[in-house]
Amino acid sequence: MPQFQRTLVTTALPYANGPVHLGHLAGVYLPADLFVRYKRLQGEDVVHIGGSDEHGVPITITAEKEGITPGDVVDRYHRMNLDAFRRCGISFDYYGRTSSELHHKTAQEFFLEIERKGIFARKTEKLFYDARAGRFLSDRYVTGTCPICGNTEANGDQCEQCGTHLSPLELINPKSKLSDATPELRETLHWYFPLGRFQKQLEAFVDTHADDWRANVLNYTRTWLNQGLNDRAITRDLSWGITVPLQDPEAEGKVLYVWFDAVLGYVSFTKEWAAQTGSPDRWKEYWQDPHSRVVNFIGKDNVVFHTLMLPAILMAWNEGRSDSIYNLADNVPASEFMNFEGRKFSKSRNYAVYLGEFLEKFPAEALRYSIAMNYPENKDSDFSWTDFQNRTNGELADTLGNFIKRSVDFTNSRFEGVVPHNCTRAEWESLGVNWADTIRQLDEAFEGFHFREAVSAAMDIARAANRFLTGAEPWKAIKEDREAAARTMALSLNLCHALSIALYPVLPETANRIHSMLGFQGTIESLFKRGVPLLQSLTEPALLMGHRLSGASEILFTKIDDAMIEPELRHIEQLLADAQAREAGATADKMEFKPLIEFDDFQKVDLRAASVISAEKVKKASKLLKLQLQVGSSTRQVLAGVAEHYSPEEMVGKNVLLVANLAPRTIRGEVSEGMLLAVEGEAGKLYMIEPQGEKINGNSIQ
Ligand code: MF3
Ligand code: ZN
Repeated sequence: MPQFQRTLVTTALPYANGPVHLGHLAGVYLPADLFVRYKRLQGEDVVHIGGSDEHGVPITITAEKEGITPGDVVDRYHRMNLDAFRRCGISFDYYGRTSSELHHKTAQEFFLEIERKGIFARKTEKLFYDARAGRFLSDRYVTGTCPICGNTEANGDQCEQCGTHLSPLELINPKSKLSDATPELRETLHWYFPLGRFQKQLEAFVDTHADDWRANVLNYTRTWLNQGLNDRAITRDLSWGITVPLQDPEAEGKVLYVWFDAVLGYVSFTKEWAAQTGSPDRWKEYWQDPHSRVVNFIGKDNVVFHTLMLPAILMAWNEGRSDSIYNLADNVPASEFMNFEGRKFSKSRNYAVYLGEFLEKFPAEALRYSIAMNYPENKDSDFSWTDFQNRTNGELADTLGNFIKRSVDFTNSRFEGVVPHNCTRAEWESLGVNWADTIRQLDEAFEGFHFREAVSAAMDIARAANRFLTGAEPWKAIKEDREAAARTMALSLNLCHALSIALYPVLPETANRIHSMLGFQGTIESLFKRGVPLLQSLTEPALLMGHRLSGASEILFTKIDDAMIEPELRHIEQLLADAQAREAGATADKMEFKPLIEFDDFQKVDLRAASVISAEKVKKASKLLKLQLQVGSSTRQVLAGVAEHYSPEEMVGKNVLLVANLAPRTIRGEVSEGMLLAVEGEAGKLYMIEPQGEKINGNSIQ
């Protein structure tokens, strides 16, 4: 028996700033759909809540670029994504949007409750302000030169070229993206959520899930916990977002940080769902009854927002209350990423297959199946057109589709479309499928979020069924032993029925088509009943002698021939070629030199030969190495963005060329006193410049 009376499943709210692609489907929405469809099939109480994340700076950037309002942007992508999900059979009970009034109210209520308890800190800080545009600039609105690699188009939050996470204050020659003006620093007040105040509680919470959460989820979360949690600003100086609900003049012009409001969307949308079902209070059963569980399906980039931030917000709400206490997540099944033809999906590079576009050309059910079989559970997986074609043609069309069609057609033509025999329990057990084991396997796989295993266990039934029918050869038997052929067909039809149940979570539409070919009125969904686990019906043959099929026979899956995927393969080749051309163009091809400088200017740069004494990695900065250098008789520390090209061991002992009089900068809390010279090779690979010669250490270049 399930340990919980009901389950609330949530799926990460995709930004309404672009179309969802197959990577999103594979990591979050399909697995969640498999899970909820399984639960419904088993007669459990489950509600699936999702929706659009409609705030955040990138949405306003899109709007500005296109000369439309942020509202127009989110309307467009909300509709587009909802439609793509619907066509893909993702069965949300409710799909909301964070621009809704009720959501604004809910997020503000949380803010006020936490403010009332005096939990927030208020801090004044200096942020970039664009005087020409009259606006504070969030990290992404500032661009400038990267202090690590010298890329002149680094963003205020990250340098795309070397991957280093930056703060806008670290940029050299910062510029406002709004007006190109050089921004000035101005003081502004913000509300901070003190995550550190909940450190102990969060550790205890995570520890209670040491055995049931995935390793990747525990790892990401514990890395954060081990570093110690800091205050996080949860307000912003922006006009697009949820207004900070205080009369205070200090709060004017400020909105809640997008992540603070987005994670609360799950709560708002459950309220909206409940209102829509006609019982507005019902949402509380899912959030506040200790017998209910919350499961958040997300991608790995969203982990800490769900394992630390949302729980801390709920803890802050719950603190000191005797009623309306929220449940914290029971599980957060975060996926790894699914790549596409061996490379990461990338929206900014347009290297993606968008769900809506895919479904214009290929059937949703085939996509669901092959994506489920490539579920990135513990490591990144890959989607390839050939794999999609092979699975569709082999597993779906040949194994599954063919078996169903042969069973139905033969019964229609030789047994007047009627089940011609009553199968015994013993016959049912003799088919090469251990039903009790299969049910257990399915149950464990779905409950454990092992979706590849779940779907293959169901497909194993189709493989066994095929073997059985092919081996029994009813088309021969019918000539001498009609009774044997009748037995074979009755068993085959019962296998068709079992397949329609076992494959329902992954192939809901196909399952319903089988169900209706078998002569059942109504849908599989109409059989769902609280407390009645339909999978249990597999232990016995369900179709009795005399049961009449519908008489119709359909081809369930059409094969995908090479001609259909060739344009797709050519399209990727084109995308890859474009990407390569862009990369090459960024370096070699663009023989544009910087403006001339005087010799005296060059003389100002103090370049010295140095050698590396020690090297280590830098926490939270995967691209950086912290180096101690010997420069003549002095030593100094330099942070170099080369960690992806050289290991610390390789660096030690190297002779390097140092810009010795660069003003020191603090990066990730570490001082960097200079810069090393390197040259970029193919695909962004960096090569240190290594001066050769005797007794050169500390000397300047000539
Ligand atoms: N919009 C975020 C993203 O696409 C996910 C938000 S999940 C939520 O990465 F819970 F915060 F809504
Ligand atoms: Zn850089």
